[in-house]
Amino acid sequence: MLPSIKYQFFGDAIEIALSVFMLCIVILVLTNTIYATIYKVANMPSAPQTRHAIIKDIQNRFMSRPDLLIYDLGSGWGGLCRKLAAADPSYTVKGFEISIIPYCVSKLMQMVSLRHPYFISRGDLFTVNMNDADVVICYLSPYHMDRVALEIIPHMKSGSILYSQGFPLHERKADDVINVPLSIEKKIYRYDM
Ligand SMILES: C[S@@+](CC[C@H](N)C(=O)[O-])C[C@H]1O[C@@H](n2cnc3c(N)ncnc32)[C@H](O)[C@@H]1O
Repeated sequence: MLPSIKYQFFGDAIEIALSVFMLCIVILVLTNTIYATIYKVANMPSAPQTRHAIIKDIQNRFMSRPDLLIYDLGSGWGGLCRKLAAADPSYTVKGFEISIIPYCVSKLMQMVSLRHPYFISRGDLFTVNMNDADVVICYLSPYHMDRVALEIIPHMKSGSILYSQGFPLHERKADDVINVPLSIEKKIYRYDM
């Protein structure tokens, strides 16, 4: 028996919708891969244990000093910014992300995070002036850390601190190394300015 016209119409509609959905997924994945290749690092979010260890260390180092200005350089999907803002409402948290898809997702999340506001901007982290930062956090790559040493650290103010998840600076010994055995990146390097 031939299927009814109505049945055929719904079958075609579902097939078209699924094709469009799959095409969108492929475009999103391709775009993200192209950005990750150009900018030499994937949008891998930091582990919860790492985020917790960084926040605890910031609170210990600054002894509950309020009004800290904290930058997440390469903020990815925005999860670390969100945790930092929730940790202490007095913190001003700013994330910079260049890759378009994580930026759009993190911007949307930021817009609905009304209880613990923070800022997400799109742009190249190496163009941002870091001279007002109290804390700078990186989860980048060895290539980025060489540039951070040359282009960011010289502009950081005395008393500020820089954390690098997983990737130490080549030319400088860390002032402290925090071990996070259960995270993908087992060490967090802290540099005191
Ligand atoms: C490993 S993810 C870090 C995610 C986040 N910071 C966290 O801890 O969950 C690194 C991010 O840095 C971004 N990135 C790489 N180079 C950049 C640049 N020059 N300017 C801004 N973002 C950059 C990448 O797109 C990627 O999303």
